[in-house]
Amino acid sequence: MKILVTGGTGYIGSHTAVELHHAGYDIIAIDNFDNSYPDVLDNIKKITGKELAFEKVDIRDKQALKSFINKHKDIEAVIHFAAFKAVGESVQLPLKYYENNVGGTVNLLEALRENNINNIVFSSSCTVYGEANPPVDENCPISSAQSPYGNTKQICEEVLFDQTKTCDLKVVSLRYFNPVGAHDSALIGELPIGVPNNLVPFITQTAIGKRDMLTVHGNDYPTPDGTCIRDYIHVVDLAKAHVAALKFLREKKYKESFSIFNLGTGKGNSVLEVIQTFEKVNSVKLNYKIGPRRIGDVVQIYASCNKALKELGWKTERDLENCMVTSWAWEKHLKQLAIGH
Ligand code: NAD
Ligand code: WQD
Repeated sequence: MKILVTGGTGYIGSHTAVELHHAGYDIIAIDNFDNSYPDVLDNIKKITGKELAFEKVDIRDKQALKSFINKHKDIEAVIHFAAFKAVGESVQLPLKYYENNVGGTVNLLEALRENNINNIVFSSSCTVYGEANPPVDENCPISSAQSPYGNTKQICEEVLFDQTKTCDLKVVSLRYFNPVGAHDSALIGELPIGVPNNLVPFITQTAIGKRDMLTVHGNDYPTPDGTCIRDYIHVVDLAKAHVAALKFLREKKYKESFSIFNLGTGKGNSVLEVIQTFEKVNSVKLNYKIGPRRIGDVVQIYASCNKALKELGWKTERDLENCMVTSWAWEKHLKQLAIGH
């Protein structure tokens, strides 16, 4: 089965390309390097021993995308990662996000339709649930989006759903909780541009001395230690879920044309637990202080993963300790390469 991976040199896309290779898939990836670097291709090759077939394509460029897909009519399924993901930037530049995330997805669907390519795995997000009662399952209603970024995920799900009504398209929408960690080789990982918003890159950048101090955004929440709770999922576990989703599509296990799965560990950890785990497993003391709450944060969210286990046969294998070990190894690797330092 030949698989197109959009956003294939990005954080989750690169790890998924590696897992698809291990599972024996024939892969072709596209990216415009807006939030990744061509070096990722070399690093994927170091891990897998095989060159990743790749073309630089911007999914906003409808003609370029169509002519790329016309050349690769043997593609049977697409895993669609390509999107912008910075929540804060999306508030400042909403049109940039709607154009890329929604417009890019529409372009992709048109090109797929023209070529009768009928399987797509879409990168959605737990952000669609907003504040909800954990453990959150797929029947939990989605709530009004907190940011244009979150809204693009909701809109894309609707666009995909509507499109399934017009053709043979089958969609698996994967709602990721909080992806963290890096590949065991420390050759691929997350590359935050500028000051990270997300907790784990901020922790590793503080520990390595790139940032002076981490601020914990509030410790007066109604949780056991007062800090917010999230479901941190290792990116390699997440990548393997995409392999499971392709199998689900290939074996036609779906009951409906549009299937949703939550991808998390099923366990919530507080901000302080993440910090303490990082310090313990890496024997590093982290400089941090307690600050005010961050606007828009939900108090606690973690996934119910029963549906993914039952229907995809997938569950996570790694724990928070492994997430912290691999994130730290990745940050040290970046320092050696002087990337972002
Ligand atoms: P990432 O930025 O590392 O990867 C996305 C890749 O897409 C980048 O390499 C970027 O250059 C590429 N890209 C962006 N716009 C493009 C375009 N117009 N044409 C071609 N390539 C383009 O992000 P990620 O963390 O790997 O996220 C992958 C997907 O998962 C995104 O859709 C994101 O919204 C979604 N997601 C991410 C998280 C997270 O916390 N990382 C959580 C939930 C959902
Ligand atoms: C986690 C916790 C912060 C930084 C975001 C996106 C969401 C999804 C996943 C894509 C929160 C706290 C953080 C810091 C802190 N991405 N924190 N100090 O907010 O759950 O979700 O990533 O779809 O859309 O919004 O993740 O890593 O930003 O925060 O105390 O410097 O860490 O307040 O409680 P979040 P996060």
